[in-house]
Amino acid sequence: MKTPIKVAETWDLAYQVRDIPWHSEHPPRELMRVLKEGGFKSFTVGVPPRRDVRPTKNVGLPRRRRARPQKLKVLDVGCGLGSSTITLAKAGFDVIGIDISKTAIEEARHRLREIGIKHDYNQLLNPRSALRTVQTSFRTPKSAIRTGRIRFEVRDVFDLRPYYDKFDLVIDLGCLHCFDGKWRKAYLKEIHRVLKSDGLYWVMTFGRKAPDYGPYRYSQKEMRELTSPLFKTLFIRNADWSRLYQRRPSEIKSVSCLMKKM
Ligand SMILES: C[S@@+](CC[C@H](N)C(=O)[O-])C[C@H]1O[C@@H](n2cnc3c(N)ncnc32)[C@H](O)[C@@H]1O
Repeated sequence: MKTPIKVAETWDLAYQVRDIPWHSEHPPRELMRVLKEGGFKSFTVGVPPRRDVRPTKNVGLPRRRRARPQKLKVLDVGCGLGSSTITLAKAGFDVIGIDISKTAIEEARHRLREIGIKHDYNQLLNPRSALRTVQTSFRTPKSAIRTGRIRFEVRDVFDLRPYYDKFDLVIDLGCLHCFDGKWRKAYLKEIHRVLKSDGLYWVMTFGRKAPDYGPYRYSQKEMRELTSPLFKTLFIRNADWSRLYQRRPSEIKSVSCLMKKM
């Protein structure tokens, strides 16, 4: 299954003429909340071990692995101009942002250069390639979390074959809710395939109380029903689409759902 060329062109045109009301320079507040709550659990990597806690001898992971936690891989599907992708890289994740719009991806790469993050053109998923860790040019205190690697690619979410079994976490901010009927199901299957076992899928869609324009809207029940054959819900809650630094709640009421691959 592949997105028809006309549909892909329509998305690209939206970015060319900048008719992109969904875009903001800042990530959604709900993403920051999930990160802060540790909703991605073991995926909050790169955090220096606490000095005041001495690891118990012979219990758990060897010390070496505790001290240098593995960088885990995140896929941001339908990433647009990459505000959330960049936020996750800054939080220490290795992230790939994909979008069907070439214009969006070119601009997302350009934004990386502007804010001083080098775009990692290497094969982020190939363990043998000589990888450079992308660093911000900002001076960060030693204790700060090291910026993860980041990469943007033009790609159709309905054909993610090179990515099968590669990701620990998929984030989806407004991608699922663009699709109807059989596309929705094919999409979820593809997300399921790119996740490693026990991988997490976090999605935010328009909720039933959001204005009735554009994307499909979901109640919590509908979201559970749609995703339950493939994913186990870890939490589901109402949120809104307000952005970091935005004072007022957004009129776009949404559903935020974190799931685990079954
Ligand atoms: C509502 S926008 C959300 C963009 C971004 N996540 C954000 O929060 O700004 C939906 C995005 O999904 C992308 N998209 C739609 N269909 C796609 C497909 N088949 N493959 C990859 N991306 C797709 C669009 O180009 C668009 O950037």
